[in-house]
Amino acid sequence: MRSVRRADLDAVVALDAAVTGLEKRAYWQRVYRRYGVAGTAEQRHFLVALAGGRVVGFMIGEVRDWEFGSPPCGWVFALDVHPQARQAGIGTQLLAALSERFRQAGVTKLRTLLARDNTLILSFFRSQGMMAGPLIPLEMDLPQGVAHSAAVEPTR
Ligand SMILES: CC(C)(COP(=O)(O)OP(=O)(O)OC[C@H]1O[C@@H](n2cnc3c(N)ncnc32)[C@H](O)[C@@H]1OP(=O)(O)O)[C@@H](O)C(=O)NCCC(=O)NCCS
Repeated sequence: MRSVRRADLDAVVALDAAVTGLEKRAYWQRVYRRYGVAGTAEQRHFLVALAGGRVVGFMIGEVRDWEFGSPPCGWVFALDVHPQARQAGIGTQLLAALSERFRQAGVTKLRTLLARDNTLILSFFRSQGMMAGPLIPLEMDLPQGVAHSAAVEPTR
């Protein structure tokens, strides 16, 4: 387990595309700039797992301070282990490495969000000791059509 390097990006893009069916190179380049290069030592972490010199998994997390009315806590918001490398403890090791970095930043709480029907990720996080927390996610569709931004001047 180590922090991501630029040379890992192709493997990360390919791994994500294999798991999700979508190649999102521009997205991963943005994530790399934000979490790989600009990530501060204590706040943002983009970790990769290597086996035989190849990237076989990654995990991304960030310490968020005082948001949602909550003291600083560590959020996990992306994880993938290559299908051929699963059930060998790599996900567990990635989470342990990320948790250790959060602990070093003084954080004592770990949080994540997952799709309700993603039983694989739920099973993984439950195995790591995570339970339902006190926050609930809310969302709605934004009305489409006329832009109402105050920054948009009406055309005359
Ligand atoms: C979830 C995931 C990260 C687990 O990685 P992994 O390296 O296989 O995990 P581990 O080997 O450390 O497994 C730890 C525990 O997770 C649970 N688990 C892992 N795979 C499981 C499976 N297929 N079914 C049920 N539970 C499972 C088990 O409790 C396991 O403990 P055990 O080995 O003692 O049974 C991996 O399956 C993955 O990348 N899935 C796809 C993630 C995804 O969809 N990402 C895109 C959206 S973010």
